[in-house]
Amino acid sequence: MVSMSQATASPSPNSHPLTQDELKTLVGRAALDYVVRGQWVGVGTGSTVNKFIDALASIRHEIPGAVSSSLASTERLRALGIEVRDANEVERLAVYIDGADEIDGKGYMVKGGGAALTREKIVAAQSDRFVCIADASKQVPVLGKFPLPVEVIPMASARIMRQFAALGGRASIRMAAGKPLVTDNGQQLIDVQGLAIKDPLAFEAEVSQWPGVVTVGVFAFQRATICLLGTDAGVQTLHFD
Ligand code: A5P
Repeated sequence: MVSMSQATASPSPNSHPLTQDELKTLVGRAALDYVVRGQWVGVGTGSTVNKFIDALASIRHEIPGAVSSSLASTERLRALGIEVRDANEVERLAVYIDGADEIDGKGYMVKGGGAALTREKIVAAQSDRFVCIADASKQVPVLGKFPLPVEVIPMASARIMRQFAALGGRASIRMAAGKPLVTDNGQQLIDVQGLAIKDPLAFEAEVSQWPGVVTVGVFAFQRATICLLGTDAGVQTLHFD
């Protein structure tokens, strides 16, 4: 069940529709309200989170620092004077703030378009709540329109792609500069098109135990409980019970 609150932050009075970049800035700033002062904050990865990191710099003296989900976010946090600790050094995080490639009506998400899904799931798992920040284009009725990212051990990739084909998916290895992309964890990614993920919990549970799968990009067990959605009317706050 999802409940919605009114826009909590408004766009400028100019009447032009906001660009996707402006919507990301809006939700990135709105996420500051969910950062618990005096506590470490979990930080995701991606272009929306970059806006959040930029906003976080304005309150950097009010928090000890961050646990980051990627080398890219760590670099940006440190460049703005925010201390970053390894996940093993901080037992619990009050909140994890991250974007999504898709989010459904229950707070289940597809993530990994930025290749950081494994560390994102790790940091989300040690956080008391997941606040998703996204523009309205990320809302879907059923997960699977966005190609599903899956981090894999390279020697298992061909077999895992066949397993997805048996489910009706079309899998391919993600490339970068003509070679298979290598994740922050030294592994590879496959992207799977053509899936309709109607039961995200069951899907995540099944695929996670296929040998060679490091992380599947369905975030059902680590779903969002709040989504700050950027719309032309401002930030809508969705609460998932
Ligand atoms: C990173 O691996 C992803 O999970 C991102 O959170 C997701 O791709 C959203 O990224 P954008 O904010 O850039 O759309």
